[in-house]
Parts: sequence; structure tokens; C-alpha cells
Amino acid sequence: AHVVAEPCFDCKYTDCVVVCPVDCFYEGAQMLYIQPDECIDCEACVPECPVEAIFHEDNLPEEWKEFTALNADMSKQSPNINEKKDAMEAETCDKSRKRT
Ligand code: SF4
Ligand code: F3S
Repeated sequence: AHVVAEPCFDCKYTDCVVVCPVDCFYEGAQMLYIQPDECIDCEACVPECPVEAIFHEDNLPEEWKEFTALNADMSKQSPNINEKKDAMEAETCDKSRKRT
């Protein structure tokens, strides 16, 4: 399955949710999560994220390995999201990387 990792934290651009064919994104307070049992590994979401937060679980950078379990757990406790909304304005979100 694919995993949302640290760059999403305090950003939530939500470009990813629009392209997912199986609507498997769930929204937490600070970031989004992918439900691994629903993700079909189509990779459509990967290039959509302006901060490159989405990885196949096998390609997750070592320092973000814990996000695999976090996505699995939190996606089950969070509401589904399949429509784009405004990104967060948190200072920790690297807006300079956002594509125009
Ligand atoms: Fe959805 Fe495909 Fe991304 Fe999985 S890889 S979360 S199925 S868009
Ligand atoms: Fe997060 Fe990137 Fe989606 S910042 S909400 S994973 S487009």
C-alpha cells in the first residue's frame, strides 16, 4: 500500500484525494492517512502531492517508517476525504515547494 508521510503534517494540500480511484484517504487533524487495505497501489496520488509526502511503503525513507502503522491505525479512526480543500497555513508547511 501507499503511505502518507511527514511532509503532509501541518500542510494537507489535499491534491491527492481528488485522483484516488478508490477514495481511500482519511483526514486527521494535522495530516491525511491512506487506508492500506483499500489502496490499490495505482500511484496516481504520488505526483499530485506538492510536498512529495506519499510513498509506496517499500520506498518509505527510513526516518518515516513509523508512518506505515500510523496510516493503518489513524485511517480507521478518521473521516473519509475525497474533495479538495484549502491547505493549512501552518508555518511548518513548506509552501515554497508548492507548484503553481
Ligand atoms: Fe489511492 Fe492509488 Fe494513491 Fe493508493 S496509490 S492512495 S489507490 S491514488
Ligand atoms: Fe498531504 Fe500531499 Fe495529500 S500534503 S493532503 S499528501 S497532496
